[in-house]
Amino acid sequence: MLNTCVPRGGDAGRTSACGTTAACHNALMQEVNVGIVGLGNVGSGTLAILAGNADQIALKLGFRLKVAAVCCRSVAVKSIPESLGPVLRTADWREVVAHPDVDIVAELVGGTTVAAEIVNAAIANRKSVVTANKELIAACGPEIWERAIHAGINVAMEASVAGGIPIHAVLREGISGDRITAIYGILNGTCNYILTEIERRGVPLETVLAEAQALGYAEADPSADLDGIDARSKLAILSALAFGEKITPSDIFMEGIRRISPLDFRYAHQLEHTIRLICAARQTPEGLILSVRPALIPRSTILAGVQGAYNAVWVKGAYGEDTFYSGRGAGPLPTGVAVVSDLMRVAREIRSGSPERVSPFAHERLGEYQPVSVVLQTRAYYLRFRVKDRPGILAELSGILAAKHISLEAVLQLPTESKRDLPFVITVEPTYEHAIREAVAQMAQLDFLLEPPLALPMETAL
Ligand SMILES: NC(=O)c1ccc[n+]([C@@H]2O[C@H](COP(=O)([O-])OP(=O)(O)OC[C@H]3O[C@@H](n4cnc5c(N)ncnc54)[C@H](OP(=O)(O)O)[C@@H]3O)[C@@H](O)[C@H]2O)c1
Repeated sequence: MLNTCVPRGGDAGRTSACGTTAACHNALMQEVNVGIVGLGNVGSGTLAILAGNADQIALKLGFRLKVAAVCCRSVAVKSIPESLGPVLRTADWREVVAHPDVDIVAELVGGTTVAAEIVNAAIANRKSVVTANKELIAACGPEIWERAIHAGINVAMEASVAGGIPIHAVLREGISGDRITAIYGILNGTCNYILTEIERRGVPLETVLAEAQALGYAEADPSADLDGIDARSKLAILSALAFGEKITPSDIFMEGIRRISPLDFRYAHQLEHTIRLICAARQTPEGLILSVRPALIPRSTILAGVQGAYNAVWVKGAYGEDTFYSGRGAGPLPTGVAVVSDLMRVAREIRSGSPERVSPFAHERLGEYQPVSVVLQTRAYYLRFRVKDRPGILAELSGILAAKHISLEAVLQLPTESKRDLPFVITVEPTYEHAIREAVAQMAQLDFLLEPPLALPMETAL
């Protein structure tokens, strides 16, 4: 970046804030330089947009975003769009973060080891940082931001949550005048794809997972997606922006989708509900309750319509009430748009000499989060059983519920052929989660159960 003049207009005849015209204007037209580290899914999408949409981007900015350097381990065999012109190619990220011409480093590597080194080295070299890395930001975003403030540079992380949905921009600026009371999100596209395929085709999770892996939609090790870890990092970041608290992901209650079967969708449909992996952050009288878990949601709710790999975020505000955002949660181009838009914002701020005009966490300071246990919330619950049939089963189960002061709402049993593996469902009226957990733990000891009961909250108010 060669100057910090503030343009007052886009054409050569106008005066710039530095008081000169021609000389300053020439300088104004000079580009802001970007170094991209990581040329995988997101890096390649980012490069494709920077190359293919360069003119539009320049029109919007009033100057060009120039890719000065690119880096990945296998850079020698990567094809770089020719229209980008001469670009430094290197397999050593240190060359990018130390390059004197690079103004902004895009960290698109992922993980928390090398990525942390890249980000820290960029900040130490006073380069602004754009990242798509939810894991790193969820683990140490506030510390990174602190260092960025001291270095007088900018950190941007739109792509770290919900790929193509500009939800950071919404929370940071779009609805920052509101007081957020709750967020409900579908933040993991792989889980949503798997759940909606089970629902649509009535096939087991293992079958859909294997297909998704073959198509490259799911990782070879699917734990981060199926067990809720990925969604939890994203919820930690969104909650920090929405509620101004420093959230440690491990403080968020997390349950994955591995136990959800076609049978659960059949019963959920009987109840006019469906099942989704719901990331929830709710301000309650006890404090902020955070959870990532599969839940029954009414089929009539807008979240139930979120199909396949799409993501969605529903924000409730005390003043503006409900707003809803949906779009692709991942993929090279949707995520690339988020990265490029961040690069543009940071470039503008570099140009205007006002780094960190708005905090990346939407608050000037983040408070400490005091975790509030999910067991304090009351919900209706769906309890699904698989049993070896014999007389008296229902009486034993309802006896356990009654002893915990839990009221039965309904008992459902769809036609089945086998008495040796008999599924049925009990729904209960709203009750404290700790009561349900105790009841389920006690039920799990019963000898007629083929597996522990599956207990899912029913988010009937959504
Ligand atoms: N995939 C998505 O749709 C998506 C969506 C939102 C956010 N994100 C986030 O975006 C980030 C990148 O994800 P991705 O899917 O693009 O990952 P990816 O396809 O695995 O790409 C990672 C890139 O980083 C490079 N890399 C790894 N270690 C390196 C090192 N030591 N030095 C230089 N380069 C190195 C790799 O180089 P080689 O190619 O040479 O191996 C590869 O080009 C992650 O934080 C992810 O969570 C991804």
